[in-house]
Amino acid sequence: MTDLSLNVMGLKLKNPIIVGSCSLTNSVESIKKLEVAGAGAVVLKSLFEEQIMNQVYAHTDNYSHAESLDYVKYFEEQHIVEKYLQLIKDAKAEVNIPIIASIHCKSSGKWIEFAEEMEKAGADAIELNLYNLPSDQKKDEHKYMEAATGIINDMKKRISIPFTMKLSHYSDNLAHDLQRISRTDVSGLILFNRSFNPDIDIESEKIINGHPYSTPDEIVNSLRWTAICSDFLETDLIAGTGIHNGEGIIKQILAGATAIQMVSSLYINSLSVIEESLTKLNEWMSAHNYSSLSDFRGKLKRSNIPDQKFYDRVQFMKSINELK
Ligand SMILES: Cc1cc2nc3c(=O)[nH]c(=O)nc-3n(C[C@H](O)[C@H](O)[C@H](O)COP(=O)(O)O)c2cc1C
Repeated sequence: MTDLSLNVMGLKLKNPIIVGSCSLTNSVESIKKLEVAGAGAVVLKSLFEEQIMNQVYAHTDNYSHAESLDYVKYFEEQHIVEKYLQLIKDAKAEVNIPIIASIHCKSSGKWIEFAEEMEKAGADAIELNLYNLPSDQKKDEHKYMEAATGIINDMKKRISIPFTMKLSHYSDNLAHDLQRISRTDVSGLILFNRSFNPDIDIESEKIINGHPYSTPDEIVNSLRWTAICSDFLETDLIAGTGIHNGEGIIKQILAGATAIQMVSSLYINSLSVIEESLTKLNEWMSAHNYSSLSDFRGKLKRSNIPDQKFYDRVQFMKSINELK
């Protein structure tokens, strides 16, 4: 008999599949379906720091008086936040799996007050999606890490529920930076976020949106970093991006992930992919004589393989020669 339960970010989950933040977690009805489909936990659609600011600025032209403007700002902020808090309350009342609220942010600020309200509304944890594209050549990249630690310090002052951080892989000092963040009060790191990517249509010569969903091939980036970082991170590692099926989950746990997040596969393959993935995980564990996830977690992380340089390899001359 296999046991898929686990403790992650201070929460008890019945299995390692966390549905990541997306539109499927934006209503109670949809969250109920995810619970029935077998999800271990869900991360709610993010409350965007940017979204709040956009809504405020949309009304700026109509309100010249400073007090009116303040009122509109206040109203807009309350409106968004109230709806979000109600979603947390309703979800907590109607489902039994952990509900993780989500904030999309880039630096510490007023939005951190919302985290306190989320906790009061009943959120089991909060995920912070730190979005920073290091595209400004004038900016010292270390500032991004300072932003992360600043946010974490301010969060810790305000809330007592666990909080995690979903990060991008953009850093020239990734392993060091991730270890540094893992030594703070954060309860888990999600490696990695998948950013929106612009594309170009060569016929119209226009900028278009890149594909919104990941492909299963995209797992290799987070898999490499799970295997490298699970050796030294001092917090839970939750793998994300490109995990589309049971095989992907098994790979990530072998590499050292505590749990995984899945999003694109639910849109592409429907919610039944959760049950199919759990079946695959169960069958594979039985066939390999593992009774719990901890029996094989990290078996193939960097320090556990004979050729420890394998995960660090970036050149592919040998493979190219073999392909000839
Ligand atoms: C339709 C859609 C909506 C998303 N919305 C959010 C969001 O609100 N906040 C967030 O942090 N990530 C959001 N994401 C990113 C996912 O949570 C996830 O990190 C990303 O899709 C990579 O995982 P995947 O390869 O399993 O799709 C969204 C992704 C998709 C496809």
